[in-house]
Amino acid sequence: MKAYEKRDYPVSEVRRFMEPGPIVLVSSAWRGDTNIMTMGWHMVMEFVPSRIGCYIWSENHSFGMVRDSRQCVINIPTVDLAPKVVGIGNSSGRDIDKFTRFGLTAVQGAKVEAPLIGECYANFECRLVDSSLIRKYSLFVLEVVKAHVAASPRYPRTLHYRGDGVFMMSGANTSRYRKLFKPQNL
Ligand SMILES: Cc1cc2nc3c(=O)[nH]c(=O)nc-3n(C[C@H](O)[C@H](O)[C@H](O)COP(=O)(O)O)c2cc1C
Repeated sequence: MKAYEKRDYPVSEVRRFMEPGPIVLVSSAWRGDTNIMTMGWHMVMEFVPSRIGCYIWSENHSFGMVRDSRQCVINIPTVDLAPKVVGIGNSSGRDIDKFTRFGLTAVQGAKVEAPLIGECYANFECRLVDSSLIRKYSLFVLEVVKAHVAASPRYPRTLHYRGDGVFMMSGANTSRYRKLFKPQNL
């Protein structure tokens, strides 16, 4: 296998290679209001308890709602929701009710007050378990306390952001390399 020839690349742009986890919609509720934001900057932090780290910009309305309620729901949209995903990211819950504007169904959760989005393939109810990095890094450390996932398809077509208005849509899967894995990495 040949090594790639490379050129210098702006460090501010490396996010384009690191981002493509699924784009998610974060729903929240606080003092009678609900809201939704689009999010690409998240990471898995632990198996058990199931922990996820998220970056929420301090200027977003969702920032105060998630910080103060200490809860949210991470919803996984599929490609058919792409125009709504962009629209939700282009607007602020300070100005509009995004459930109404984007025709999405707020479904009551089991463990948190924040609503699930009915049209999303999966919904993960989360509690904020560490707020110590919010002020410095806008990093919210969440624990998933309840998960709701559609029975099929097994591998939904999700959206993955490459920056500059380009989405990758999840496609082919292979288990050809499964036998190479150490069991604990499966
Ligand atoms: C594809 C995409 C990914 C985004 N990822 C993030 C993110 O990871 N963190 C963040 O704070 N904002 C992100 N945004 C921007 C927010 O979704 C946007 O600021 C939104 O309007 C915030 O809504 P709110 O003010 O109602 O909270 C993203 C937007 C798009 C379109």
